[in-house]
Amino acid sequence: MRRLTVRTASRTYPIAVGRDVLGELGGLVMKTRGAGQAVVVCDENVAPLYLERVRRSLADAGLAASQVILPAGEQEKSLARAEELYGVLYDRGLRRGDTLVALGGGVVGDLTGFVAATYQRGIGFVQVPTTLLAQVDASVGGKVAVDFRAGKNYVGTFYQPSLVLADLRTLDTLPPRELRCGAAEVAKHGLLAGSAVLRRVRQLVRAPLSAAAVTQELVAGSIQYKAGVVERDERESGLRAVLNFGHTVGHAIEAATAFRRFSHGEAVALGLHAALRLSRELAGLPEADERMGHELLDGLGLPGRLTKARARDVCDLIGRDKKAGQDGVPYVLLRRPGFPVLGVRVPPELELEVVEWLRER
Ligand code: NAD
Ligand code: GLY
Repeated sequence: MRRLTVRTASRTYPIAVGRDVLGELGGLVMKTRGAGQAVVVCDENVAPLYLERVRRSLADAGLAASQVILPAGEQEKSLARAEELYGVLYDRGLRRGDTLVALGGGVVGDLTGFVAATYQRGIGFVQVPTTLLAQVDASVGGKVAVDFRAGKNYVGTFYQPSLVLADLRTLDTLPPRELRCGAAEVAKHGLLAGSAVLRRVRQLVRAPLSAAAVTQELVAGSIQYKAGVVERDERESGLRAVLNFGHTVGHAIEAATAFRRFSHGEAVALGLHAALRLSRELAGLPEADERMGHELLDGLGLPGRLTKARARDVCDLIGRDKKAGQDGVPYVLLRRPGFPVLGVRVPPELELEVVEWLRER
């Protein structure tokens, strides 16, 4: 098992990554949180696969464990679902010393974290991510949120977990499409970090993407890159914005297609294609690096063409991005792999041209 530590201004916490490590959860929760109630939140797909093992581990460690099982899907990241969860916690008499355990993908993690951050102004929160996307990205760094109308992650806060436990064995049951979505975020980290992280994700392209190809080094390296950024800028007052690479167009595509046509990771892949093209136009990214980026994403089997959305609608939604100011949205672009540039303004006509290009790729 590989152990990492994230040190932020608000909290220092351990991340453990390994294969077949779910059984360690109870002991680790006891160590980081102490005795008390633990409510495991998971969705209907994850519950039959991993809930029993998690409950047993918590109970064996002496914690009073119960669960909430939700439907699966992005629509669960809602204020209505959060309110329902507050009701469950109230009925079960949860106190600040007790803990919510998010067992699942980024949807369960973001929602559970939002509830943990706000219930009684903050109760215990542990992440047990079971998708590649959640292991390398969503479970790390403390962004928790629900969606609001067409606004992705529009209502939320920063709330670091007390512990993250990522078991690579859980990826064995992940549908291939979800595995590819996680690979999109690893590709993002690779392009931003350059060096070893990029080398490892490029190796994934050589064989058909499978859970067996996802190594502890790949996941831990990707987490380490993100954790390093979060440690320097926990609340996105500067540097952390680099992690939005590909997300400005990606989030707008998700919203323009009603969160149904593309999953988050697929929309991010499309956003990364757009960001690579803009990087060549506006940040001097060499053409060969741009091509390498497109080939990487295509090689991971991610969708490369925007369908079922009009370019104009996507651009209108980009304008509603949380980061938009009076003069538009500041983009993260790439000068070279490993050298992101923050705060680039993209002329509206170029933004439209690039989104049109995504429809025609
Ligand atoms: P998800 O949570 O919807 O999970 C994808 C699907 O896989 C679901 O159907 C789920 O039931 C299923 N699943 C999960 N684990 C499984 C397993 N081990 N075996 C079989 N099926 C399994 O989606 P996701 O891609 O994990 O997360 C996407 C969400 O994460 C989005 O809402 C996005 O906004 C958010 N996100 C948050 C951050 C952050 O920093 N907080 C970063 C990136 C993404
Ligand atoms: N996923 C972007 C961030 O955590 O900042």
